[in-house]
Amino acid sequence: MPRNPTIARTVPVLRRTVDGFRARKATIALVPTMGALHDGHVSLVRLAQRRAKRVIVSIFVNPTQFAPTEDFGSYPRTWKEDIAKLAAEKVDVVWHPDVKTMYPDGFATRIVPEGPAVAGLEDRFRPHFFGGVATVVGKLFTQCRPDVAIFGEKDFQQLRVVTQMARDLDLGVRVIGSRTVRERDGLAMSSRNVYLSAEERRVAPELYRAMKETAARVRAGDDLSAAQAGGAEIIKAAGFALDYFETRHAETLAPVTSIKDGPLRILVAAKLGTTRLIDNMAV
Ligand code: PAF
Repeated sequence: MPRNPTIARTVPVLRRTVDGFRARKATIALVPTMGALHDGHVSLVRLAQRRAKRVIVSIFVNPTQFAPTEDFGSYPRTWKEDIAKLAAEKVDVVWHPDVKTMYPDGFATRIVPEGPAVAGLEDRFRPHFFGGVATVVGKLFTQCRPDVAIFGEKDFQQLRVVTQMARDLDLGVRVIGSRTVRERDGLAMSSRNVYLSAEERRVAPELYRAMKETAARVRAGDDLSAAQAGGAEIIKAAGFALDYFETRHAETLAPVTSIKDGPLRILVAAKLGTTRLIDNMAV
């Protein structure tokens, strides 16, 4: 039976709810989202339920992580469907502040992450992004005061950035990464997949194939840069405009030259038409 979550829209309501959980000694997991929920998000919620007694899902399309040229205005917003999915999962609380609640007039404090946030991957193409993410996630952590927070591995650099931030700022939150959920043909689930035309959707799994082939070649002992160049070729031949296709150290995101520098992670970002897709895979 579905069970409607409590919807908190203001900080005092959220605080009272969290205080109630804490008074009953319940552990709390937070799943930060921007809504437009799909099965990947549902898997984050299920992992959260295994890790804590109470689950809060935040739904907030965060303007500060979008550049003016990006899709903040058109980002899919599917509130009714999202709440139905969260009710089916028996989530306890949905934290749904509006922009003025998150960034009141006069807001003047930001978190500026370094380390994995300046690794030369997403930050090279979206220089505004990790500052916006770190600031909003820092606020979500202090508002919800969770014991654990669950983030998808699909946004791998983001996962590394928030893990580092929680550690550096002693936020008392354990950040847990959750495996990427894929469509049957390998395409990583993403709220932005709805932007793909039928033809682009057919081509999109080539990203997955390129990573799989590259990972297999590296594991088999092929030269890393030759294997990487082969993967990049698959992506370009499929019609993508490639931003990057790189293999990095899975923890630090530092550049690597051989499998011996591991553990390794392949990370990719590429545009199909106007839709930018990102993905990654362990080697
Ligand atoms: O991954 C996302 O959906 C967003 O970047 C996050 C973590 C909810 C911050 O706005």
